[in-house]
Amino acid sequence: MNGSFWDALPRPIIGLAPMYGITDHPYRHIQKKYGNPAVVFTEFVQVEELCAGVRRALNTLRYDESQRPIVAQLFGHTPRYFRRAALVIAALGFDGIDINMGCPTKSVAQSGAGAALIRTPDLARAIIDATHAGVRDWVEGAGLREGSRLSTAAVAQVEARRQRLPPAYQQRRSIPVSVKTRIGYDEPATGEWIPRLLDARPAVISLHGRTLRQRYAGEAQWDEIAQAAEFARAAAVPLLGNGDIQSIEDAQKLVAATGVDGVLIGRASCGNPFVFCADGQGATPLRPNNCWKSRWNMQTSLPTVSAQQSAIRLSPCASIWPGMPGAHRTAPRCARRCYT
Ligand SMILES: Cc1cc2nc3c(=O)[nH]c(=O)nc-3n(C[C@H](O)[C@H](O)[C@H](O)COP(=O)(O)O)c2cc1C
Repeated sequence: MNGSFWDALPRPIIGLAPMYGITDHPYRHIQKKYGNPAVVFTEFVQVEELCAGVRRALNTLRYDESQRPIVAQLFGHTPRYFRRAALVIAALGFDGIDINMGCPTKSVAQSGAGAALIRTPDLARAIIDATHAGVRDWVEGAGLREGSRLSTAAVAQVEARRQRLPPAYQQRRSIPVSVKTRIGYDEPATGEWIPRLLDARPAVISLHGRTLRQRYAGEAQWDEIAQAAEFARAAAVPLLGNGDIQSIEDAQKLVAATGVDGVLIGRASCGNPFVFCADGQGATPLRPNNCWKSRWNMQTSLPTVSAQQSAIRLSPCASIWPGMPGAHRTAPRCARRCYT
C-alpha cells in the first residue's frame, strides 16, 4: 500500500467535511452508505487529550471499514504532541491525518490552535513538520508510548483495535498529512498564508472560503479559493474548496469557477446524504423518521457506545434531521454550538 490515497481518488473529489458534534461514527456510516462521499474526516480530536489516552479522544477515533478512506483530524498548538498523536493515528489504521487550522471557536482559537495558527505561520509549519516526523517514526518502528503519557490501558486498547484491522492496515505504513484551514484571520490573507502552508508540503489543503472573523456569516469567498487553487496547482498540491456547497451542482460550479481539485460538503449533508450523489437525488432528503431509525440502529449496534453516550449523541442528530420528534427542543442548543 504505497502512495497517498488522495492521488487515487477520482477528480473532482467530493468529500464530507469534518463537523464536531455531528460527523461521528454513526453519522459517517450513514453518509457513506447512502451518499458515498469520496473521503470522510473524523470530528477533531485534541492532541493533548489523545496523547494522554483520554477515553473521549479514543472514542472519537472509532470507525468501521465501510468508511475508508477515512482521515483523523487533530487540533492543538504544541508540535511535540502532534508528533506523538501521529503514532496513535497511524496505529489505529487511519488513511490520513488532517490538521485543523480553521476552527474559529474561542476555546480553540484563543489557545493558539485552529484558525489562530493562520497568524503564527512558523508554529503552523512546526506542527506540520512534527506530524510528518511522527508518521516517519511510526514507519520506522517507534512504539506507541514514545515520549507520551499514554496509559497501559490506552496502549492496550489501541493495540487491540489494531489487531482487529484487516491485515494490510495492521502493517506500518506511511499516511498523508493534510491541512484544513480558512482564507485568513481578520481579513483574507490567501496570498501570504497559502504559500506558507505549501512550503510545508501537506498532501492536500482544504480551504473554507471565510476568515476566522466571519465564522459562518456572509458568503464563502470563491475568488479567494480560486487564488489559493492557483498557488496549490503551481506546487502540485491538491486543494479542496469548502463553504456553502448545497448540492452536487454547486460543487461542480465551484470546481469550474476556481479550478479546485474537489470540494468538502459539511452542513448540506445533514439529513441529506444524497447530496454527494450525481444523479439528481440531492433534492430529495431522506424522510426524517428513516434517518432517525437508521442512525438509532447503527448507534445501538455499536458495542462500545453506552446508552448514555447514545442519548448525548442523538441530540445533534435531532437538530440535523428536521422534523424528528423532539428536534425543536435540542435544535437551538445545537445550533448555538454550530454557529458560535
Ligand atoms: C457544527 C460544526 C462543527 C464543525 N466542526 C469542525 C471540525 O471539527 N473540524 C473542522 O475542520 N471543521 C469543522 N467545521 C467546519 C466545517 O468542516 C466546514 O468547513 C464549514 O461548515 C463550511 O462548510 P459547509 O458550508 O459545507 O458546512 C464545523 C462546522 C460546523 C457547522
